[in-house]
Amino acid sequence: MKAAVVTSFGTAPRCADFPDPVAAGRDEMVVSVIAAGLHPRVRSQANGSHYTSTGVLPLVPGIDGVGRDADGRLRYFVLPEDVTAGSMAERAVIDARRSVVLPSGTDPLMVAAAMNPAMSSWIALRQRIQFTAGSNVLVLGATGNAGRMAVQVARLLGAGEVIAAARDAGLLAGLAALGATSTLLLGPGPGPGSDSGPDSGDPGPDGSAVAGRLGPAAAGVDVVLDYLWGQPAATLLTALIRARADGGRPLTWIQIGSVAGPVAPVPSAALRAARLQVVGSGQGSVPAGAILAELPELAREISKGTFGIDVRAVPLDDVGQAWADSARSRQRIVITPAV
Ligand SMILES: NC(=O)c1ccc[n+]([C@@H]2O[C@H](COP(=O)([O-])OP(=O)(O)OC[C@H]3O[C@@H](n4cnc5c(N)ncnc54)[C@H](OP(=O)(O)O)[C@@H]3O)[C@@H](O)[C@H]2O)c1
Repeated sequence: MKAAVVTSFGTAPRCADFPDPVAAGRDEMVVSVIAAGLHPRVRSQANGSHYTSTGVLPLVPGIDGVGRDADGRLRYFVLPEDVTAGSMAERAVIDARRSVVLPSGTDPLMVAAAMNPAMSSWIALRQRIQFTAGSNVLVLGATGNAGRMAVQVARLLGAGEVIAAARDAGLLAGLAALGATSTLLLGPGPGPGSDSGPDSGDPGPDGSAVAGRLGPAAAGVDVVLDYLWGQPAATLLTALIRARADGGRPLTWIQIGSVAGPVAPVPSAALRAARLQVVGSGQGSVPAGAILAELPELAREISKGTFGIDVRAVPLDDVGQAWADSARSRQRIVITPAV
């Protein structure tokens, strides 16, 4: 069969022949893959940098997707984290217990694009903490695909205030339409004499630029969904704790992604000055069973069009170009082996 094949971790996958997968276990089945999302997690799987990487090559990337089973039904499926025959192929072996049959009329591209970014906040709020309706949420990194989903998921789950924080003012302005009640621009912003680049998210050692932009809602943030980590997280954490109206009010920081850096220099005083709890949400910190239990309801929400995401379908033949594009595109690329 044709598949996207990685033969070296330094090189993008290319479309090539790969052995047909064979179902072995009682719950396994072969599906024709309709759509497989090119998520950041898939990029790190393909370049060997993800924390679950086993280093085995050759590798077909793709951790999830939508396929058609032998009975003609569409299924969203999640593959095991150490899979080497992934979903970016004409066919994939899936475990029926790690899949969900989609309602008829579902757009497979939308589901393949949206499940991974939507799941990041859905699982964090439903499985990682005891989230109560009315709690105030801040999404750090709100203009990415997962961040935009997080704004929508937080609203759906009954959040009170939803503060969207990111470095791009133009993109932030569009998030009110998704449910953000206010926005926070990260970084130093325009102005002469500033030597911190917008990428750093660091306005200075005391975070004064970000602190100065915090609106009144920041004093009552209950939960932070953090896709950035690195310096932007450290800067915001310090500013939020200083802004707290009630030091005894719990603040739960959920670490989900680290696009701004793998390490964040958190000042010790920030940990002592508030009832702060830092937790992570991802493979390993949430049991696989708990993640799978959430698939049907989330798939239903996506199938009925609850969330918006900008999708671009790319044929398997063009996977090399898709890899290059995905590094700079804001769209969620979906590889379509069997369309
Ligand atoms: N743990 C989980 O369950 C889980 C699930 C899904 C995703 N994730 C992780 O979540 C993260 C985001 O995923 P995604 O799908 O949203 O990716 P994405 O669509 O590529 O978006 C990345 C976002 O990060 C922003 N960004 C990049 N570098 C930045 C920096 N230095 N400072 C501030 N902002 C920066 C970009 O901002 P601009 O818009 O300004 O360029 C963009 O909005 C990734 O690390 C992914 O692996 C985790």
